[in-house]
Amino acid sequence: MELSSSDTTLLKVQDLNKSFILHNIDGRTIQVLHDLRFSINAGEHVALAGTSGAGKSTLLRILFQTYSTSTGSILFKLASGEWVDLTHLTDSEIVAIRGREIGYVSQFLRAQPRRSVIDLVTRAGISRGLDNNDAREQAQMTLEKLHIGKPLWEVHTSVLSGGEKQRVNIAAGLISPPRLLLLDEPISALDPENRTLALELIQELTLNGVAVLAVFHDLDAIEQVSHRIIAMEKGRIVQEGPTNTLLPLLRKGYINS
Ligand SMILES: Nc1ncnc2c1ncn2[C@@H]1O[C@H](COP(=O)(O)OP(=O)(O)O)[C@@H](O)[C@H]1O
Ligand SMILES: [Mg+2]
Repeated sequence: MELSSSDTTLLKVQDLNKSFILHNIDGRTIQVLHDLRFSINAGEHVALAGTSGAGKSTLLRILFQTYSTSTGSILFKLASGEWVDLTHLTDSEIVAIRGREIGYVSQFLRAQPRRSVIDLVTRAGISRGLDNNDAREQAQMTLEKLHIGKPLWEVHTSVLSGGEKQRVNIAAGLISPPRLLLLDEPISALDPENRTLALELIQELTLNGVAVLAVFHDLDAIEQVSHRIIAMEKGRIVQEGPTNTLLPLLRKGYINS
């Protein structure tokens, strides 16, 4: 997919490093992200590629601020136009930004098991600033788009199949979309038909100006939805460029995916 004309930077990551201290082993420190530097524009879809253990999930969690940063800065342009460094926010500021401005969809539905499908997606809408009625209405619409029909709406999320859980998870990510959406293997459990459906909705996001940073296992998905690829290896960015330039290298195995 070619990127349309937007050049509005939304996110600037500078010299980002992340270490974990292995408390349970011997207190050793391991560095899993090294000097990451990249930016993302509004309306741009960037695919994060790299083999398992490269640091992709860690990076997404840091951007969502569920992991702290060791050093470096993460500059984000708020809807108000103000730039903030996500690594310097208070907890309540993080919660506010996470609700309205930055969303995160992981491979697994991390919902409370006793929550109903419609309630879960409605709450996601409320956290994005919709009022209760609008949130419920949009939750219904979003679930329908993902082929989660009415009979499933009042069901507890714990009883859903893996593919249904993923689609509910995606619905919660897509309702009243945030300005930056982080996706960590969101379609891994979907059958081909629902995969296509989910990818179409993800593609629509970029047309609406949402910036997306996504991990997909599947190179065809990357080809369909991304404008640019950032390839990581052992916690470092090893290649970065337009999808049509880098994808052939990934397919041939010149870059590990
Ligand atoms: N909470 C943690 N504590 C210690 N090490 C971690 C933690 N989370 C991830 N890691 C390590 O960081 C590295 C990158 O992991 P991850 O970000 O999950 O990679 P990817 O998503 O690319 O497969 C791995 O070596 C992993 O073991
Ligand atoms: Mg991962």
